[in-house]
Amino acid sequence: LSGAPYTAPRYVSLELEELLWRSRQLAVLSYRPLHAEVVYPPATFSLLWVPGHEAVPLTPVPRGKSLIYIVRAVGPVTRRLVEKPPRYVGAIGPLGSGWRVTALQKLWLHIADGSGLATALSVLQAATPAVLAYGARSGDELVPLEDLGLIGGGVDLLYAAPLDGSQGGVGSVVSLAEQLVEERGVDALTAAGSRHVICGAARVAEKHGIKAFLAPEARVRCGLGFCGKCSLSCSGRLLCRDGLYLDRGVLGCWLASSC
Ligand code: FES
Repeated sequence: LSGAPYTAPRYVSLELEELLWRSRQLAVLSYRPLHAEVVYPPATFSLLWVPGHEAVPLTPVPRGKSLIYIVRAVGPVTRRLVEKPPRYVGAIGPLGSGWRVTALQKLWLHIADGSGLATALSVLQAATPAVLAYGARSGDELVPLEDLGLIGGGVDLLYAAPLDGSQGGVGSVVSLAEQLVEERGVDALTAAGSRHVICGAARVAEKHGIKAFLAPEARVRCGLGFCGKCSLSCSGRLLCRDGLYLDRGVLGCWLASSC
């Protein structure tokens, strides 16, 4: 790991450009910064402020001058974004320490489920060549990444069968990931999403002796490293300050207590 170039966080107003895709629980929104350009390095996040509500932490995926937000309805603010995305929102960011891995790998495997998808997409172009293993709880939560132009060159995308069995097939994104490690000569992986995905990815990395960088979920409140809400338990790390991705070795204590 090495220090990432620091980009000072700033507040920017955003205007809704397009609702790119929506299902019952998820929406893919394109917002365009008003009056200013904003650069989000890989694996950083923003506090997205919806007028009349509190700010929520979301990772934007830069596309041209726009920021793509993949929002899952898990509370009142995200439900509002999914069901009736406001024309104007505000974003404070970039927050987090960004992608700090400089080692070249023969092949990266990125693993994501519905809640880690945006984080995984944000590092896709920083860690290539790569395979993305993507899964979701249900068929209607699988975002059609290729149709939306969210997958660039040099990345091979594989969908795991949804956990609800709605599209046939068996196995989770973790078993797909293990298969890819065995068959493709993967020598490093990243994982973002639910505890199940993070724990499974850590087990696969340990079993096959490969590097792993993990972005667990944590409750983010201030986003600036002073409230302690996003503490990754006994690891002594804060997700908002030290993440979004952390080395598996650094998270050893968290993994031991959470998996
Ligand atoms: S959210 Fe406050 S310290 Fe991380």
